[in-house]
Amino acid sequence: MRFLVTGVKGQLGYDIVRELKSRGYTDILEFDKDDMDLTKEDEVRTKILETKPDVVFHCAAYTAVDNAEDNAELARMVNVLGTKYLSEVTSEIGAKIIYISTDYVFDGEKPYGETYDVDDPVNPTSIYGKTKLDGEIEAKKNPKHFVVRTSWVFGINGNNFIKTMLKLSETRDEINVVSDQFGSPTYTVDLARLLVDLAETEKYGTYHANNEGYTSWDEFAREIFKVFNKNMKVNSIKTENYPTKAKRPKNSCLSKECLDREGFKRLPSWQSAVERYKKEMEEL
Ligand SMILES: NC(=O)c1ccc[n+]([C@@H]2O[C@H](COP(=O)([O-])OP(=O)(O)OC[C@H]3O[C@@H](n4cnc5c(N)ncnc54)[C@H](OP(=O)(O)O)[C@@H]3O)[C@@H](O)[C@H]2O)c1
Repeated sequence: MRFLVTGVKGQLGYDIVRELKSRGYTDILEFDKDDMDLTKEDEVRTKILETKPDVVFHCAAYTAVDNAEDNAELARMVNVLGTKYLSEVTSEIGAKIIYISTDYVFDGEKPYGETYDVDDPVNPTSIYGKTKLDGEIEAKKNPKHFVVRTSWVFGINGNNFIKTMLKLSETRDEINVVSDQFGSPTYTVDLARLLVDLAETEKYGTYHANNEGYTSWDEFAREIFKVFNKNMKVNSIKTENYPTKAKRPKNSCLSKECLDREGFKRLPSWQSAVERYKKEMEEL
């Protein structure tokens, strides 16, 4: 089986390649912007028709949530048109597409304690969320699609909330973090395992996948400082006191019942993910 992974210089793409290799797969095409620019239709078509993968893990995206508010055109070109080109050409050759989406397709207005299932109405509140949702619509035009919504991603190969917290702890001993946005962190090592599990089946459809358990950003920060032995005080603040360009959902807790229904193993707890991420960082 031949695999193609987009966004291999990012967090998730990097770990999908590692997961595939650890399972003994050797025919893996590792693509980033220099190899195939998703905004160029001819380039996408030519590369896919030349290489004829059986499975495309589509991890590349415009992921800067706040910058997207000022760069809507570029975000749309990458997240919507790039996915459209890939979806069309993979359909033509009968390849599977695994499109990574986001909890930001939901508006987050459900009260905390309730979760979003895969069929719940979507209503993104940001440009990033809108473009990722339109990307979902494009990916679904390939009958062999998996649309996998994840959240709060961290991996060894790229920037993320954990790295930002650790960097800040070098120069400060106190930090304000929002306490009224709820969701689940996701370790790319765990997500990659599930994505390859999905790709090995024909159980196409929409899934939610992140580490088990729900938390808020301030609790996530406290856990990070505890696990990494940093003496940092976390002050809980409200979203309204931490203005950002993009409006984020307050409650984007995702239900993972879709994984149970289809017989897939859920990811481990987010706390265990932080512990294992620390070990991975120490081994570098
Ligand atoms: N990060 C999160 O918290 C989060 C949450 C929910 C869902 N997701 C989704 O999960 C997936 C993986 O996220 P991630 O954190 O691994 O992303 P990431 O680290 O930001 O990596 C994205 C990669 O896509 C590449 N890319 C950007 N524009 C491109 C283009 N025109 N053509 C080809 N490649 C391009 C980037 O290259 P450059 O760096 O050179 O631009 C980068 O290597 C994405 O689909 C994202 O939307 C992420």
